[in-house]
Amino acid sequence: MMGALTKLSTNLIHGHEHKDSYGSHIPPIYTGVIYEYTDLERNLAILIDRGNYLRYGREENPTTRALERVVSKLECTDDALAFNSGMASISTTLLSYLKPGDKVVVPMELYSTTFVLLNNISSKLNVKVEKTWPSAESVVNSVDGKTSIVFIESMTNPTNKVIDVEYIYKSLDLSKTILVVDNTFTTPILLKPAKYGAKLIIHSMTKYFSGHNDAVGGIIAGRKEDITLLWDWRKMLGGILQPFESYMILRGLKTLEVRFERQSNTARAIAEYLAENPKVEAVMYPGLSKDPYNSIARKLFERPLFGGVLSFRLKGTYDDVLRFFSKLRLIKRAPSLGGTETMAVIPSKAAAMFVDPEHRQLLGITDNLVRLSVGLEDVDDLIEDLSQALNS
Ligand SMILES: Cc1ncc(COP(=O)(O)O)c(C=O)c1O
Repeated sequence: MMGALTKLSTNLIHGHEHKDSYGSHIPPIYTGVIYEYTDLERNLAILIDRGNYLRYGREENPTTRALERVVSKLECTDDALAFNSGMASISTTLLSYLKPGDKVVVPMELYSTTFVLLNNISSKLNVKVEKTWPSAESVVNSVDGKTSIVFIESMTNPTNKVIDVEYIYKSLDLSKTILVVDNTFTTPILLKPAKYGAKLIIHSMTKYFSGHNDAVGGIIAGRKEDITLLWDWRKMLGGILQPFESYMILRGLKTLEVRFERQSNTARAIAEYLAENPKVEAVMYPGLSKDPYNSIARKLFERPLFGGVLSFRLKGTYDDVLRFFSKLRLIKRAPSLGGTETMAVIPSKAAAMFVDPEHRQLLGITDNLVRLSVGLEDVDDLIEDLSQALNS
């Protein structure tokens, strides 16, 4: 059993706690859907560590279980529950905890499929969704007696604002309103939302956890009683992560720390380069000392790293951005983030399309805004690619 004090790097490698009769250190891919009943009277099979029986693949899977053990250790929570996408984790959370008449408070800048889901849930379940400026103060001021959930992302996408979760923790009664933090952008390397009273911590594992743009998955980490409730909902909604993806993400997680460090350092170098470039109007990256979110990030983040995603506004029009995009040679024009390949996207025409237009304007998500998700290529090659595309 790994002790609670074991460090993150060690947990990434050994936190799965897999042991088998062959002495393998690597959790295998258990493709079996059925597991034999050991108690025929009560239809019970082998008891696994969560207190559930390993009976059927929609309920539990040993490979998925190994991944859940790693993530609960990284997030310093009792347990975790893996899903077949980040969105499956989010939809299961909302369906499990919301009831008609409730209010949800969210920043007006949020992953847009989460917005679309909230809009649909709001009309179906008669839940009020209040979208507020992405700051801890605005979030706190929007909470009232009907607010059952505050749902935030640790760093907003695409303008990279860092919400002061410590302020939220100190200002709200989190026994009345639950705090859910989507920690995809910062990962537990930078932020441990459980320290700040988050009841549930969500990840799109499709991003940094998997890290190779080859597996889709999601996870929720939390206390035992919450994971027990969500387990029932996962079973009802059928969203368990499949064993092959669990294996791929377990494999990816082993290098999370080295990848994240490298991506953060490269992103900072690119942000510094762009900040000095006369063709660039503004750079949004909390790792820049002049960035308005630098001090909150330095206060909250466990290390002086700021992640692999940065955004910048080109001087020029949408057509200029399209021209710049067409000249990129190495950087891929593609969505998503946290993988090995560096990718560029125009958020106003992609994920942020579903942010309310007046909110897009307020947030600065203009048509000349470009988001870069930095991969593992050589930093000089990336800067060279940006430079030739900007100059042409
Ligand atoms: C912050 C954040 N949360 C959740 C999701 C949804 O995750 P998935 O695509 O794995 O369903 C995304 C996807 O981009 C995301 O960026």
